[in-house]
Amino acid sequence: MKRILVTGGTGYIGSHTIIELYKRDYEIDVLDNLYNSKITVLDKLEKITDKRPGFYQVDLCDKEKLDKVFAEHEYDIVMHFAGLKAVGESVEQPLKYYENNVGGTVNLLECMQKHGVKKIVFSSSATVYGEQDTPKYDESMSTGMGITNPYGETKHVIEEILKDVAESDPEFEAVILRYFNPVGNHPSGLLGEDPNDIPNNLMPIIMKVSRGEIPELSVYGDDYPTPDGSGIRDYIHVVDLARGHVAAIEKMKPGVLIYNLGTGKGTSVFEMIKAFEKASGRKLPYKVVGRRAGDLAEMYADPAKAEKELDWKTELTVEDAMRDTMTYLNNL
Ligand code: NAD
Ligand code: UFG
Repeated sequence: MKRILVTGGTGYIGSHTIIELYKRDYEIDVLDNLYNSKITVLDKLEKITDKRPGFYQVDLCDKEKLDKVFAEHEYDIVMHFAGLKAVGESVEQPLKYYENNVGGTVNLLECMQKHGVKKIVFSSSATVYGEQDTPKYDESMSTGMGITNPYGETKHVIEEILKDVAESDPEFEAVILRYFNPVGNHPSGLLGEDPNDIPNNLMPIIMKVSRGEIPELSVYGDDYPTPDGSGIRDYIHVVDLARGHVAAIEKMKPGVLIYNLGTGKGTSVFEMIKAFEKASGRKLPYKVVGRRAGDLAEMYADPAKAEKELDWKTELTVEDAMRDTMTYLNNL
């Protein structure tokens, strides 16, 4: 049985991916410093899958402890979700982001190299494309130009590091997955996005507004050149995203493979509000405010490469994501 080390495995996307990995009988250890997740996620994983991953509360920046984890087990693959992801905070505290995301990844790659682990799957982001001439983003487009925040820069830099390591070692295998906008949660309602910090993303904010923790949603602009004037993104159900990771590890080969994980369909902020209202049966308070600096009008994935090469495509809709979000919220 293959053994996988999942960094950031108690986080939102990592935990959902573990559920899908367990369907394929992988053995899993989680490494997380619990900065933005809770240890109770392991209990929830056990409830859903009947299996419990090994757990190391280790910070990727603590190289000594990290090395000990690699010394304890022989890993076949590392799935690397751990990272800080708050775009606004990264603008205020760029060094924290470079140290944690880039420094942490360098430590991880050094430990992998030392212990002969050659395979890594990395959580990248559509943000690496910056702004292009068309709203439909494919993997052949340039990256690294026009990224508007240090968080996005860390994703781009890590992608380049992975390419350099692959260049230096013909046996190294990396898959870079560029996520579009993950939403929703496991249909059991047991797991979900539960950030310890103040969220910047649309869906966690909608969830907090619906629970009365934030009075209203600020819609960042209704004057974009889109049909209803609000920003358009590609919202991918986290269960589909998780399945994409399983598809990716089954197709790994020496070198670097890069895939968009998205639905290929754009949804506007106003459409997201309507979909949430439909699923919850309640009005969602919002007000339109000015555009947020650095935001694009419209961005969605061209998922054709992943569909063809990974034999994977999304199956769930925004409506499914809203239904599952309501199950989760009603469970809290
Ligand atoms: P998350 O915050 O829920 O999970 C990340 C986990 O990493 C957390 O549990 C956190 O405690 C842990 N972590 C952070 N720094 C660490 C460190 N130095 N050492 C050990 N653990 C550390 O975030 P998520 O939404 O699950 O995102 C997972 C990955 O996907 C991240 O790399 C993120 O940048 C990337 N991504 C997320 C989105 C999104 O919208 N959620 C979009 C694109 C890419
Ligand atoms: N939005 C609002 N109000 C809010 C939050 C967001 O109107 O309070 C709007 C945004 O303007 C945008 C859409 O909702 O039009 C989605 O915004 P998010 O912040 O949820 O997502 P972004 O597409 O801006 O960015 C996200 C992640 C980035 C990642 C990028 C691409 O935050 O880290 O997707 O994957 F890089």
